[in-house]
Amino acid sequence: MSGTGAGAEAVRIVLGTWPELAERAAPIRFRVFVDEQGVPVEMELDEFDPLSCHALALVGEQAVGTGRLLPDGHIGRMAVDAGWRGHGVGAALLGALIDEALSRGLPVLALSAQTHALGFYARFGFEPVGPEYEEAGLPHQAMERRLAAG
Ligand SMILES: CC(C)(COP(=O)(O)OP(=O)(O)OC[C@H]1O[C@@H](n2cnc3c(N)ncnc32)[C@H](O)[C@@H]1OP(=O)(O)O)[C@@H](O)C(=O)NCCC(=O)NCCS
Repeated sequence: MSGTGAGAEAVRIVLGTWPELAERAAPIRFRVFVDEQGVPVEMELDEFDPLSCHALALVGEQAVGTGRLLPDGHIGRMAVDAGWRGHGVGAALLGALIDEALSRGLPVLALSAQTHALGFYARFGFEPVGPEYEEAGLPHQAMERRLAAG
C-alpha cells in the first residue's frame, strides 16, 4: 500500500488481482465510463481484467478510483469518481501502477489516452505516439513512457 495527501484525508492505494478488487473497482468503472462517458456497457469489463494488476484508491474505506496494468505494460481504465477529481487520486493510482511496472522490470509503458487527459499523463512523462483515433466513440491518443534505458 502507498499513501499520498488528498485534501484533508489520505488516499491509500491497494494493488490486487481482479478477483480481489472487482467488487469495489467495477462499480467505479461503470459510473465513470458507462454512466458518465457513454461507453457501451458490454465493452467495459473485458478479457484483460483477469490478466491485469488492478489499483484501487481508498479514502477511509470508500473506494474512489481505479486503474490497471496489463502484463505487457499497458495502463488502462483509469477512473476517479467525479466528486474526487482534482485531489491527487489519479496521480496516486498512476504512480502506484508505474512503481509496479518498474518493480516488474517492464521496459516501456503504453496507454490509450482520452485526448482530454493528455495533460494528466504528460505530467508523468508519457509522450504522444502517432495520430489521434477513435475508440469506444471517444477521441484517443496513444502515449508511451520508457522506463528502462535502451
Ligand atoms: C483523468 C483522471 C483519472 C485524473 O484523475 P484526478 O484524480 O482528477 O487527477 P489528479 O487530481 O491526481 O491530478 C494530478 C495532476 O494532473 C493534473 N490533471 C488532472 N487531470 C488533468 C487533465 N485532464 N488535463 C491536464 N492535467 C490534468 C492535475 O491538475 C494535477 O496536477 P498537479 O500535480 O500539478 O496538481 C480523472 O479526471 C478521471 O477519472 N476522468 C474520467 C475518466 C477518464 O477520462 N479517464 C482517463 C481515461 S484515458
